[in-house]
This record gives sequence, structure tokens and C-alpha cells, in this order.
Amino acid sequence: MKKIKLISYSLFMLLGFSVITSCTANQKQNEETIKEEQNIEQINQNNQNITQETANKDFSAGEKIFNEKCMVCHQKNGEGVEGTFPPLAKSDYLLADKERTIIQTLTGSKKPITVNGIEYPGNVMTVFELSDQEVADVVNYVLNSWGNEGGTITVDEVKAVRAKIQ
Ligand code: HEC
Repeated sequence: MKKIKLISYSLFMLLGFSVITSCTANQKQNEETIKEEQNIEQINQNNQNITQETANKDFSAGEKIFNEKCMVCHQKNGEGVEGTFPPLAKSDYLLADKERTIIQTLTGSKKPITVNGIEYPGNVMTVFELSDQEVADVVNYVLNSWGNEGGTITVDEVKAVRAKIQ
């Protein structure tokens, strides 16, 4: 009889213990889920700010320049030709550095570059005679097309970069 009492007592304790540990584990998981949700909310908010910043902008002037001058190589969908003409759509190289993008548009690149993990030889891109306004327009179109959310540049920034490299 005593043995049965002892066994049922220990079973009861074990049950109690596991209820408590699973409760605290649940709570921890809940806290982590809340944190994750807050992070996602923050990211969505940031994306929304960028989208709002560019939503009212008109990129049609840049689109026209792109279609006339850049599309032959980088293609209408901005995806380029793998190994020959680099993509502008979702290009890590493009989105990493706006000043470098202005320089690229003004002068091309003398050195080979790596875009999304694939190398492209330099000295291939045509150098165009574009005004500061035209450079700003076409770069802003490229930064905000095909799913890119690259923000915008100003004519003054183009002017400053041009002065620096001349
Ligand atoms: C003759 C083909 C050709 C034309 C036309 C051309 N590009 Fe390029 N572009 C290239 C090549 C090749 C590279 C790789 C580096 C180099 O050779 O300068 C490149 C690189 C780039 C890059 C940086 C790499 C990347 O993929 O993010 C940008 C930005 C760019 N071009 C924008 C433009 C813009 C804007 C125009 C039009 C004003 C244009 N290109 C016209 C061939 C071209």
C-alpha cells in the first residue's frame, strides 16, 4: 500500500513539473514570436517609407533614356545577358553604392566587375554624352524599376560626382 502511495505521489510531482516547464517554454516562445513580429513590422515600415518616397515620382524621362540608350544591352526587363551584359534588376552591385552607379553611367568601368556572383569584363559599356539631368533621370529609373527599391539621387549629386572624377 505504501509503495502505491509513493508511486502515485512521484507521478503527481512529475506531472506538475512537466506542466510548469512546458508553460515557461511556451512563454519564451511567445516572447520570441512577438519580437519577430515586431522586427517584421519594422522592416515593412521601412519599405513603406521608401515606397512612399518614390510613389509620387515620375520616372518616365529616365525610362525614355533607358529605352533609347541602355536597353540594347541591359534588356527591357533589366536582366541583361548573363556573362556579357550585367543585370540592373535586383543587382547587388547597383544597389550597394549610388555614387559608383553615377560614375558607371558617366564613364563605364575600366575594371571587370562582379554582379550577383557573376563576373563581367570592364571597358565594354558605351560612354554616352548625358547631361547631369539625364544621368539623374536614367539612374533614378534604374534604381526604381523591375522591383528595385534603390531610393533616388539628385542632379546636384551627379554634378558633384562629375566634378570629382574630372
Ligand atoms: C554596349 C552595352 C551597354 C550599354 C548600351 C549600356 N551598358 Fe551598362 N553595362 C554594360 C557592361 C558590359 C557593364 C559592365 C561594366 C563595364 O563594362 O563598364 C555595365 C554595367 C552597368 C552598371 C553597373 C553594373 C550593374 O549591373 O549593376 C550600371 C548601373 C549600368 N551599366 C547602367 C547603364 C545605363 C544607365 C546605361 C544607359 C545610359 C547603360 N548601362 C548602357 C553594358 C552596357
